[in-house]
Amino acid sequence: MRVGLLTGGGDVPGLNAAIRAVVKRGDTEHGHQIIGFRNGWKGVAEGDVVQLGRQNIRNVLATGGTLLGTARWHPHRNEGGLEAVQATLEAERIDALICIGGDGTLHAASKVAAAGVPVVGIPKTIDNDVWGTDASIGFDTAVTIVTEAIDRIHTTAESHNRVMVVEVMGRSAGWIAVTSAIAGGAEIVLAPEEPFDIDTVVKYLRHRHRAHASFSIVVVAEGAVPAPGTAMQFETEVGEFGIVAGATGERVRTEIAARTGFDTRVTVLGHVQRGGSPTAADRILASRFGMLAIDAVSDKVDNMMTALHGEKVELVPIAEIAGKVKHVPADLLEVAKALA
Ligand code: F6P
Repeated sequence: MRVGLLTGGGDVPGLNAAIRAVVKRGDTEHGHQIIGFRNGWKGVAEGDVVQLGRQNIRNVLATGGTLLGTARWHPHRNEGGLEAVQATLEAERIDALICIGGDGTLHAASKVAAAGVPVVGIPKTIDNDVWGTDASIGFDTAVTIVTEAIDRIHTTAESHNRVMVVEVMGRSAGWIAVTSAIAGGAEIVLAPEEPFDIDTVVKYLRHRHRAHASFSIVVVAEGAVPAPGTAMQFETEVGEFGIVAGATGERVRTEIAARTGFDTRVTVLGHVQRGGSPTAADRILASRFGMLAIDAVSDKVDNMMTALHGEKVELVPIAEIAGKVKHVPADLLEVAKALA
């Protein structure tokens, strides 16, 4: 078989581990040829291909980024995109395509699958908001990075008696914010799942600083929003490429400083959360997903996405996940709030 492989959307640590698993298993177990497309769907539309063999995957397990490159480009959102993708897949005689991506890339994959191309998706996103799977590649590494950052911010916050606002990624879901707030022991977490009231935030900080502490850590997801009708109102700042990094954190910082008079600073962790070496958990998840995906296309089980369900990796229909967001459940948010 000739199996196409691409990574699309924002990069995450663990993509190379997934590529390695597909290539290694595809070659050793199935004798497939793996055709890589550079820079996600854009590379498919442009016919930008690279034959992937064992030499391409040597020493990549522990590396960040993606050796295939990536892009935020979707065929169904660009005129003639789907036709260009189909033309390349035909020209390259691709029997099946493995797409490693987040909601946007997987949504595109379901469109391409509907046009008759056998596709298997692998979920990756530090945001962890892909529907139908307990975890996506990259999330564990991002939470580990943010937790370490909060630990470091803790000591300087305490030394200077400051309120430290830490803005983390998470456009539609607050998985990174909530889990790293629990792991890092933050005082307050603001996530998209629960629009916030700045009066409640300020009241809590005043009480804490009066009663027993001189510093606080406030973790803010970039997609956090104020509750309608509350004292502070703003629209999430969205630029050409998505949410403007730092905008939400700075707004919250300004408001807390103005209302409390506390010395308040903001740290925007930004793309640091997506960089560098994947954790062991992400390498393992990526390896399991990669192997399941190549086995699935070999067995002609198409139009599925690999998913983690408890301890098991399984396949779910790719059409079922498109357009849905996996939000942080209320009980997890409750743990963060209860232990503040
Ligand atoms: O795709 C996940 C994500 O990391 C979001 O959390 C964030 O808003 C966005 O990507 C940033 O994208 P870019 O790399 O295009 O700035």
